[in-house]
Amino acid sequence: MPRFSMLPTLLREITVQRTLPREPEPDLVMDDAEQVAAYTEAGRIDGVMAAAYLFQTARITQTIQGCGKVVDLGCGPATQLTQIAQLNPDTHFLGVDLSAEMLDQAEQYVHKLGINNIDFLQADITDIKQIEDNFADAVISTMALHHLPSQQLLEQCFNEIKRINKTNGAIYLVDFGRLKSLKSAIYFAYMNARYQPHIFSLDYERSLRAAFLKEDFEQLSEKIFGDKCLLYATFPMPILVVIKTPDRGKSSANLQSRLRSLRSQLSSRYRAELNDIRMLFKLGGLKTILLATITNLVSKNI
Ligand SMILES: C[S@@+](CC[C@H](N)C(=O)[O-])C[C@H]1O[C@@H](n2cnc3c(N)ncnc32)[C@H](O)[C@@H]1O
Repeated sequence: MPRFSMLPTLLREITVQRTLPREPEPDLVMDDAEQVAAYTEAGRIDGVMAAAYLFQTARITQTIQGCGKVVDLGCGPATQLTQIAQLNPDTHFLGVDLSAEMLDQAEQYVHKLGINNIDFLQADITDIKQIEDNFADAVISTMALHHLPSQQLLEQCFNEIKRINKTNGAIYLVDFGRLKSLKSAIYFAYMNARYQPHIFSLDYERSLRAAFLKEDFEQLSEKIFGDKCLLYATFPMPILVVIKTPDRGKSSANLQSRLRSLRSQLSSRYRAELNDIRMLFKLGGLKTILLATITNLVSKNI
């Protein structure tokens, strides 16, 4: 069950009329040094995004199994991307971002960890001229699409994803979905305020205000990707929306044990948060075999 403190917000989102309009992010890309540093810190294994990162790492890994070249759009400081790349050493990743500050952090981080299966490209994800047609075996993007100023640019980005991806390529896009009320957005943005710098909470609030609607994603996914992708959202409130192709093949026991080890490194607070995310997505129809508990895996013979 989601934490008790979340219940009033869940009830509000089920019962109220939508009043929260879209307010695009004040800055097109994230290149303020203080903001970038706070965001990078939040992505560490003990940072406030640790639970969400681990969920996405597991889910993305299930979706990109066996893919040779994967492009990550809006990779930011690559804290999420490096976790994915470390678990998928036979895959080559290309992180794309427009912010030089973010890419600088990303390169330093990858160098520090000694990772050699990630390259970076400074480019606009709505017009990625530098990448040729049918280049990728998979295109992924985590928490970046709400930065696009308009639905028209979101559509342009989806068209670019289709163009650079192989016909049978995998897709995994995850972003915030807009909540109905400002009060709910404020609750989530400041839920962990005492554990994070104020600038990160503010950034989170701006992201939730800039989020597209689940319906916007639904409409564009159907228009551009057709029945190749399915859309899933956390339920009962679509604060996270995932557009993805079906999972590929079975994951190895080694992968599962590495993910369990990452989960065991989370503090109890973030483990509880991971359970919340898994539960809300499961209610929305998206299961995560790779993060199932050992008992679950044994009983299902996975
Ligand atoms: C919130 S961060 C997400 C970073 C990372 N994917 C993660 O999950 O932690 C969004 C990133 O998208 C980048 N971005 C925003 N608009 C962009 C655009 N049009 N082209 C390329 N990158 C963009 C920003 O610079 C920022 O680094």
